[in-house]
Amino acid sequence: MRIAVVYTSTTGFTQKYAKWIAEDLDGDCLALKDMKIEDFYKYDFFVYGGSLHAVGINGLKEFKERMETLENPKWIVFAVGATPVKDDVVPLLMSENLTKEEQKRIKLFYFRGGFDYDALNFKDKMMMLLLKLKIKMKPQKDRTPDEKGMINVYDQRTDFSQKKSIDRLVAYVRSL
Ligand SMILES: Cc1cc2nc3c(=O)[nH]c(=O)nc-3n(C[C@H](O)[C@H](O)[C@H](O)COP(=O)(O)O)c2cc1C
Repeated sequence: MRIAVVYTSTTGFTQKYAKWIAEDLDGDCLALKDMKIEDFYKYDFFVYGGSLHAVGINGLKEFKERMETLENPKWIVFAVGATPVKDDVVPLLMSENLTKEEQKRIKLFYFRGGFDYDALNFKDKMMMLLLKLKIKMKPQKDRTPDEKGMINVYDQRTDFSQKKSIDRLVAYVRSL
């Protein structure tokens, strides 16, 4: 099975996971933005990874459009975000990013990446600044654990990525 691990990454965390996965699955690791239509015809199976942006998976819409040009494409998806891994994350991401029909057949994994404010583009920096101000305006006692975590990681590059997180995804693909 020829495998492509395709990713969209803004500050490098998803790219790191994509490289680890491609290494373990003996597949090719490719940035979605660099791929031409014909590149997609070379593979039997795709693992798509994108970082989270307000619960949406970066680049997934574009990736799905590419999949629609293939006959019976087989793919799974992983998302990378700054929030810790919790039981309710995957169901939430599935309902926000996959159609009802896709939810029945597409497996979705979530991995914790990190946060690197300095590496963000201007628009993202502004969005994060607004979010930070909104959280800071709340009294400490009313802040959710995620909001407290956000404030803590804001000022310095934080990297929570761990290679062993990919084991379940790799085992799943190998079992197919
Ligand atoms: C504007 C913006 C929105 C974000 N929204 C989320 C989110 O909803 N959930 C989350 O876990 N992380 C969120 N993040 C954090 C990124 O997903 C996280 O830093 C990720 O590791 C970045 O991966 P990348 O470097 O591959 O793009 C957001 C970051 C930015 C800049």
